[in-house]
Amino acid sequence: KDESTVSITVVGASGDLAKKKIFPALFALFYEDCLPKHFTVYGYARSKMTNAELRNMVSKTLTCRIDKRENCSEKMEQFLNRCFYHSGQYDSLDNFMELDTKIKEHEAGRISNRLFYLSIPPNIFIDAVRCASLSASSTNGWTRVIVEKPFGRDSESSAALTRGLKKYLNEDQIFRIDHYLGKELVENLSVLRFSNLVFEPLWSRQYIRNVQLIFSEDFGTEGRGGYFDNYGIIRDIMQNHLLQILALFAMETPVSCDAEDIRNEKVKVLRSMRPLQLENLVVGQYKSHTKGGITYPGYTDDMTVPKDSLTPTFAAAALFIDNARWDGVPFLMKAGKALHTRRAEIRVQFRHVPGNLYNRNIGTDLDQATNELVIKIQPDEAIYLKINNKVPGLGMRLDRSTLNLHYAARYSKEIPDAYERLLLDAIDGERRLFIRSDELDAAWALFTPLLKELEEKKIIPEYYPYGSRGPVGAHYLAARYNVRWGDLG
Ligand code: BG6
Repeated sequence: KDESTVSITVVGASGDLAKKKIFPALFALFYEDCLPKHFTVYGYARSKMTNAELRNMVSKTLTCRIDKRENCSEKMEQFLNRCFYHSGQYDSLDNFMELDTKIKEHEAGRISNRLFYLSIPPNIFIDAVRCASLSASSTNGWTRVIVEKPFGRDSESSAALTRGLKKYLNEDQIFRIDHYLGKELVENLSVLRFSNLVFEPLWSRQYIRNVQLIFSEDFGTEGRGGYFDNYGIIRDIMQNHLLQILALFAMETPVSCDAEDIRNEKVKVLRSMRPLQLENLVVGQYKSHTKGGITYPGYTDDMTVPKDSLTPTFAAAALFIDNARWDGVPFLMKAGKALHTRRAEIRVQFRHVPGNLYNRNIGTDLDQATNELVIKIQPDEAIYLKINNKVPGLGMRLDRSTLNLHYAARYSKEIPDAYERLLLDAIDGERRLFIRSDELDAAWALFTPLLKELEEKKIIPEYYPYGSRGPVGAHYLAARYNVRWGDLG
């Protein structure tokens, strides 16, 4: 093992994602001694920069998880000394060839493994992959490429992108990242379900009334309006992050924990789903709002967004899986920007206990009496189960209580960032948390007809004030399926 090297090239090194996520994640892995003995990190971008300038830029974003560790600055220094910069065009074979020469010098004749992280806009993906694979791929080890979404805007553009990538790479060299799959509680989902007898047998239409996948952010698209306007919340969050969670949640028991077994099951779920219908969708867009003397800008107040944009910044949808396990169970998704709070969670609402002896003690509102399992992905990770309980005392009154696994209280170790896990997996060749091309095709097939319809019919979003709970239409949608959004209490 000592005889091999891993060279990690961050293509688009001066971008936001590289600075905020990729370099810090690499450092965290180094800090935890998870990176191979011989590794080197290269920043590649168009702008001119020296190694010292790159190191300076990167150093500003590095933090040590546990601040008091004495060797932190020493470790940072060691990490930064392994970072190099190469300036080049994304479509230049020559520039990638120069990078190859640099990498070879550091490899010093060891077995060469190369990881390219494409943190660049999608319109230059293929060029960069072509140049990296023709000019700078490994000749005696592996070459892998991590690609970030957006993977196209619809089925056709996604298929074109896949065709383009596959001209230069095999499917098993392509690591399509969906960082939600790297989040601790999403990773834990299968453990929770498949290793707990109190949950596994209940995981079906027989006991589950509905499942809710909720994503909300308390900030708008400021600074990203140009990108966002071309995609909207359905493509930005639902088609990937929420749908991936849904597939993991709803899949049949995989044959093993191997990547192919898990992805085979996920793709079956996606292919069993009904494409989303307009009648099962509510779209919204946030408007400016003044609160406490501060005016928060509306979506179209952003200079990079057209004034008449109809792009949704909020969407709520009801989806269905037409298989034996989930027939008739609504999977409700809700995703929005500029809402009142930041959170991502899964809510599982169970059915009523048949003939519940105690219904009359709770009152007539049966909704209050069902169990609810909440998997809080972020912030403040937790898993809690709402149960009915007798209020202590001489009378017989019931109320709802919560059995709570609060991660911060239970575990003292800090939770790694999703990018750390995913980068480590890519280096290890573990594909379980990356999206296979057939999964991607199935995911687009669910949303593409509707996305086209929305654009063709110029559907006007329901406006909601910045910082609110989103459009009221989301409640009506849930009510149609006899559901109440769990996050609203
Ligand atoms: C990204 C989206 O994929 O996920 C962003 O493009 C969104 O719009 C982000 O803000 C949310 O990620 P996280 O990990 O901060 O919840």
